[in-house]
Amino acid sequence: MSVAPCTEVEESQQEEQEAQHPAGFEFSRRRFLQAATTLTAAAAAIPGVAVAAPIESEQKRAITLKINGDSHTLTLDTRTSLLDALRENLDLTGSKKGCDHGQCGACTVLVDNRRVNSCLTLAFAAEGAEITTIEGLAKVPEPRDVSDLHPMQAAFLMHDGYQCGYCTPGQICSAVAAVEEQKRGALSIVSFHTGHTDHPEMTDDEIRERMSGNICRCGAYPNIVAAVRAVSRGLSA
Ligand code: FES
Ligand code: FES
Repeated sequence: MSVAPCTEVEESQQEEQEAQHPAGFEFSRRRFLQAATTLTAAAAAIPGVAVAAPIESEQKRAITLKINGDSHTLTLDTRTSLLDALRENLDLTGSKKGCDHGQCGACTVLVDNRRVNSCLTLAFAAEGAEITTIEGLAKVPEPRDVSDLHPMQAAFLMHDGYQCGYCTPGQICSAVAAVEEQKRGALSIVSFHTGHTDHPEMTDDEIRERMSGNICRCGAYPNIVAAVRAVSRGLSA
């Protein structure tokens, strides 16, 4: 039995062997490719046989996204993530790109009031939804005072819930949704561990668990927990 050659040298050695021992030889890589090309061309010529179309490198379409109450019509590659649409096409750079793999939470935004990793969400999947980013959370478009901010933004300020601030927009969006989830009785794994499955309180363990998708490499966790605890108890500014 022949072994597929890995290098040009191996391949030419194999072809040399093949020329010397044509009957005992099975297939070279070059022959395989030649045969595959010939078969594809032959199939295309047969009526009724479908041959896959070549993959287009770019497929653009018009899309309208509703973000922070405003509609934006764009022409995007259908594979564009919501995060890239926000940052690269709409200049909404509050949502951050940390890992681009759904692991850090820096890109968290709200889609129909549910938190999502916008790096893992296709922009086209969010068409028709109400998208809220950190830029749209405050009570007024251009806040000038702490009282103009969303209570969670104010609580992060009051409790010093950040250091470099890179994770903060995602932390705040996530925290807003986490408090709402707890209010409507959504359970976490901590609720099952503690047995408090009948509308569990927002204890620090619950906060840590519910915020565990948001990583802070500065380690501002104690202050983030304090901010979320304050809002969940109605104690923020
Ligand atoms: S950038 Fe989206 S989860 Fe990290
Ligand atoms: S404040 Fe720096 S990563 Fe969280």
